[in-house]
Amino acid sequence: MQSNTYTFPKNFLWGGAVAANQVEGAFLEDGKGLSTADVLPHGITGPIMEFPEGKYPSHEAIDFYHRYKEDIALFAEMGFRCFRTSIAWTRIFPEGDEELPNEEGLHFYERLIDELLKYNIEPVITISHYEMPLGLAKKYGGWRSRKTIECYERFAKVLFDRFRGKVKYWMTFNEINILAHYPFTGGGIIVQEGENKKQIQYQAAHHQFVASALAVKACHEAIPDAKIGCMLAYIPAYPLTSAPEDVFAALQGEREILMFGDVQARGGYPSYAAQFFKENNVVLEMEPGDDLILKSHPVDFIGFSYYMSRAVSANPEGKETTAGNLFGGVKNPYLPSSEWGWQIDPIGLRIALNLLYDRYQKPLFIVENGLGAADILEVDDMINDDYRINYLREHLSEVAKAIQDGVDLIGYTSWGPIDLISASTGEMKKRYGYIYVDKDNVGEGSLRRIKKKSFSWYKKVIASNGSDLD
Ligand code: BG6
Repeated sequence: MQSNTYTFPKNFLWGGAVAANQVEGAFLEDGKGLSTADVLPHGITGPIMEFPEGKYPSHEAIDFYHRYKEDIALFAEMGFRCFRTSIAWTRIFPEGDEELPNEEGLHFYERLIDELLKYNIEPVITISHYEMPLGLAKKYGGWRSRKTIECYERFAKVLFDRFRGKVKYWMTFNEINILAHYPFTGGGIIVQEGENKKQIQYQAAHHQFVASALAVKACHEAIPDAKIGCMLAYIPAYPLTSAPEDVFAALQGEREILMFGDVQARGGYPSYAAQFFKENNVVLEMEPGDDLILKSHPVDFIGFSYYMSRAVSANPEGKETTAGNLFGGVKNPYLPSSEWGWQIDPIGLRIALNLLYDRYQKPLFIVENGLGAADILEVDDMINDDYRINYLREHLSEVAKAIQDGVDLIGYTSWGPIDLISASTGEMKKRYGYIYVDKDNVGEGSLRRIKKKSFSWYKKVIASNGSDLD
């Protein structure tokens, strides 16, 4: 690989991304209420369990709630220019439908944001990342109900008001398309037997689209120089073969994700949505004025996560499949996989950037990318995570190429710069960080922070503004 050939924009936002529920712990401290994430000890893919015996690793997580100063100092040492985190909704509105916010929760985020600003690290805030108040889920069925729009809007307005002048980058919902796959995590929804699952999921998505547009409106009103984006889990769909049937199946696979971007970025449902709804017996209930809200308040930028691509076949039966971020697909014979079976595809990121930019012509922000791996703590506190460095290097070199292709990219925040709880499985063993955290899958460990080999590598990448990826 040649060095010094990569050019990133001058003010490119290098950093890392986490989510409140995967790092903070302190799950019932300072007035925090229970969230949907608090009752998923084995992550999104596991069962909902409201406090059986045993320790939930996520309830303590990596104790970022108490150790954020130490951790932010390490991010600053790496040269972070931004840091993406989310605000735990239940720290601000413990049940979700209160009229007034919990001041103690707001104070925590004030201290956290001030700590970032102390080091000139730009906060990038996700308003809702995979956790809504369990109270809203129980009382109203989560995002099934329009009532939740009002609660979310109140929550978002409190944040814009409180962090005005401090936070310029916002995102409304993390990986909003998760609703189509995991309705409890995406929307606090439990689908009952006999219900039309898609009807419920897309009605809830409609409520989130309206809520997202209302948050865009409120954000622009409160903080005129702010930028507020959507956030998609983007997993490009490749046709398994060049058979036209496979190509069309891949197109439909793309639309499955991009409908969520189309509504938020273009300000309305795409033409293909009508047929999709018809085929799935989905009839959306909309209120007069919803169309106008969506149309009037599209997002400013497209945030997305990218970990992998997937292959799609018109006839998947009997074909080898792979695991993946939210969902997998048919195995692509050209790609290797991570230890967790996610297919590794750096060029897919260049493809993703070009496709999204062609489609939306709005700035993009890669807000998650990284390799989940089982690191080994060796003697003298060494963690030789060359596999992670290789993964990131290869992806970043494709990012640089996409920028040369003409893509307008705001920044790059790799996922989990410090080890955290896995969203899909609740494990600690699946690590993404430049900083190791001493804790295991059953929640034991000192929580000590240890720099991995990738720590100095990423520091050098940022210091060279991406020109040195070696
Ligand atoms: C994304 C989520 O889907 O992938 C994160 O936004 C999540 O919350 C990340 O942690 C990686 O997934 P996992 O399952 O390895 O934690």
